[in-house]
Amino acid sequence: MTPEIIKAQFPHTLAQAQIPALGRYYQGKVRDVYERGEQLVIITTDRVSAFDRVLGTIPFKGEMLNALAQAGFDSTQDIIPNAVLSRPDPNVFVMQKCTAYPVEWVVRAYVTGSLWRDIQAKTAEKAYDMQFPKHIKKDEALPFPVLTPFTKAENGQHDRPTSRRELIESNIMTGEAFDQAEATAIALFARGQALAQARGLILVDTKYELGLNTEGQLTLIDEVHTPDSSRYWVASEYETRLAAQHPQRMLDKENLRQWLSETCGFTGDGPPPLLTEDIRVRLCLRYAELYHQLLSQPFVPSVGSVISRLTTSLQTVGLLA
Ligand SMILES: Nc1ncnc2c1ncn2[C@@H]1O[C@H](COP(=O)(O)OP(=O)(O)OP(=O)(O)O)[C@@H](O)[C@H]1O
Ligand SMILES: [Mg+2]
Repeated sequence: MTPEIIKAQFPHTLAQAQIPALGRYYQGKVRDVYERGEQLVIITTDRVSAFDRVLGTIPFKGEMLNALAQAGFDSTQDIIPNAVLSRPDPNVFVMQKCTAYPVEWVVRAYVTGSLWRDIQAKTAEKAYDMQFPKHIKKDEALPFPVLTPFTKAENGQHDRPTSRRELIESNIMTGEAFDQAEATAIALFARGQALAQARGLILVDTKYELGLNTEGQLTLIDEVHTPDSSRYWVASEYETRLAAQHPQRMLDKENLRQWLSETCGFTGDGPPPLLTEDIRVRLCLRYAELYHQLLSQPFVPSVGSVISRLTTSLQTVGLLA
């Protein structure tokens, strides 16, 4: 993929998929979701979000993200069933509608990002109701991966750390349900780590979403082990960069967060900056690099209108007249 091809796709990116005939509409930050009885038609757009805000679109992002999510679902079905029923178009999943827990099941193997900020501010132990190793440094590995759950905030609000105790006390779930979700998230993370390692990457941390299907069975929903829900570092450079106290080389959305905070001084409050053409191209190349590395094949872009293609795909499978 070249910058020219990426730029040629700028006028065709999918910012929104407004298709009222598909059913009742819900707009997530990245996905446009249509409800049809017990099924959801989930359209992964090219929108990119950071600090809980939507900032614009990245060419081919929805398609690459969905391919990575598909690979993630396929590689974890022996651990937990997932909600995927079909993928009628590169950007679309038809899923079983589940009752989602209002929790982001974040698992981390390293101290970085918001956990590092919370540890520095000495707020981590109280927020997560959990002990962390004393004297641990930024980007160092934890002794073992830990679950640091977040509440799933409403649109525009920031998610915040929560704990087993708080989720039980606020009647969101029983201790038994929490323990099952935690064990599942930890097992999923071990799988994600092994797959990343085999491809020369480190799965640093990730977020799972879990729900109950109509039979009351715990089910994996939304997306899994994608660059939107995960941090990936380049394994071969980890030790040297850690020793030199340099930032890790990352192949995920952290690139965008860094650009926003370092170049634009934006960390989630006030009006977000407009994405430049240059950052949109760079982010697209990062997604493509991770795609290539995790799926062992290069992403083959096809320039053109995403909305026209997916409308035809939905007509072909009878989801649209
Ligand atoms: N199978 C499913 N059953 C029920 N809800 C689902 C299912 N799959 C995804 N969802 C929900 O659909 C929405 C998808 O939108 P999107 O991924 O853009 O979510 P978001 O929460 O706004 O953003 P982010 O994932 O970045 O936190 C989310 O609210 C997600 O919880
Ligand atoms: Mg989501």
